[in-house]
Amino acid sequence: MQYDFNQPIDRWDNFAVKYDEMEAKYGRRDLLPMWIADMDLKTAPAILEAIDARNKQGIFGYTSRPDSYFRAVCDWQEKRNGWRPDQEHCVFALGVVPALCTCVREFSAPGDEILFLTPVYGEFFESVENWDRKPLTVSLLQDEDGRYSVDFDAFEAALKRKPPIFILCNPHNPVGRVWTPEELRRMGELCVKYGTLMVSDEIHSDLMLFGHKHTPLASVSGEIAAHTITCTSATKTFNLAGLQAATLIFPNEELQNKYQKFWKSLDVHRNNCFSLVAVEAAFRHGEEWVDQLLTHLEGNVLYVEEFLKAHIPEIKLHRPECTYLLWLNCKGLDLPGDALPAFMAEEAHLALNDGRGFGPVDGEGYMRMNIACPRGVVERAMAQLKAAVDKRMGR
Ligand SMILES: Cc1ncc(COP(=O)(O)O)c(C=O)c1O
Repeated sequence: MQYDFNQPIDRWDNFAVKYDEMEAKYGRRDLLPMWIADMDLKTAPAILEAIDARNKQGIFGYTSRPDSYFRAVCDWQEKRNGWRPDQEHCVFALGVVPALCTCVREFSAPGDEILFLTPVYGEFFESVENWDRKPLTVSLLQDEDGRYSVDFDAFEAALKRKPPIFILCNPHNPVGRVWTPEELRRMGELCVKYGTLMVSDEIHSDLMLFGHKHTPLASVSGEIAAHTITCTSATKTFNLAGLQAATLIFPNEELQNKYQKFWKSLDVHRNNCFSLVAVEAAFRHGEEWVDQLLTHLEGNVLYVEEFLKAHIPEIKLHRPECTYLLWLNCKGLDLPGDALPAFMAEEAHLALNDGRGFGPVDGEGYMRMNIACPRGVVERAMAQLKAAVDKRMGR
């Protein structure tokens, strides 16, 4: 079946954060919303059918989770990534961010430093700071082309400070890196050496572009797996964030029980009746849809890449290896601090994420653009950006 990712869908006044919270965040409503990481694309028909069937029954009582649910998660991992997690060690979470917060809470103590690589998804900072821990950040290195890599010397120096946890973004939002098995092995072996628990956020791992291949951190070696908690989810891949469901995969019962004790004490351990059927349908029947989605996203990336090169040389894009978030290097516009996000909103009429939200220092001069939308929206965004930059440059 051929899916249509170019159909515009009106999400206004439908409780979409990307639209209905834009005015509160950007001070105006007349911007193209290309910020928070969900897609302006309808999910896979198989998922809609599963939800419709549940809805038709008209009873939404307490919901039990069958074995087939986590089996679908494990089958998907095996099929897509060649890694078969142990189903007994899969645990439900309301989302990856709640899971990260809980790992921080349960596996470290107030005042501890928690390690991660920046620039990175802003919630990493909050997950740490909200629990009175301190971010211990290591800046990624960047080559002349804008490709990021791990600074292993700085990484090891940070590990010597004995952070109890390293949170890895695998693959990495916002810089679009798909970590290679070798990079993962080096990070993993260093963490094992210094006794640091790894929490690998793999929420973007299905969104592999241009032939790149995801490697689950826990698949790299038995020793690394024994020190890794993996966070996966169908919500980013299939645009289901509003259903709130993720899966954690623990290396052993001890860590699993400690984590679970917290959520069981709040009586939060069941899926809601819609996420239950949606996630299983996604992983059982969504493969063809994802593959076509990836082709659509690649097309959007290439469109932006070519447009910038041809018309806006001041903004540089290193082609992402994964996901639908473009990390735009806008340093050539020479707009320091608040002037850059103000320019994007007030002049280009685009609602993008300010790079500084991903690391106050590493993100300066960058904006993150979400291109998970119909091509027409990307074309409009590029035209608006060109007009604003031309005006600024006196072209
Ligand atoms: C790296 C990363 N982790 C987690 C999340 C959000 O996860 P959830 O909605 O499951 O809490 C996002 C959303 O953009 C993300 O980019």
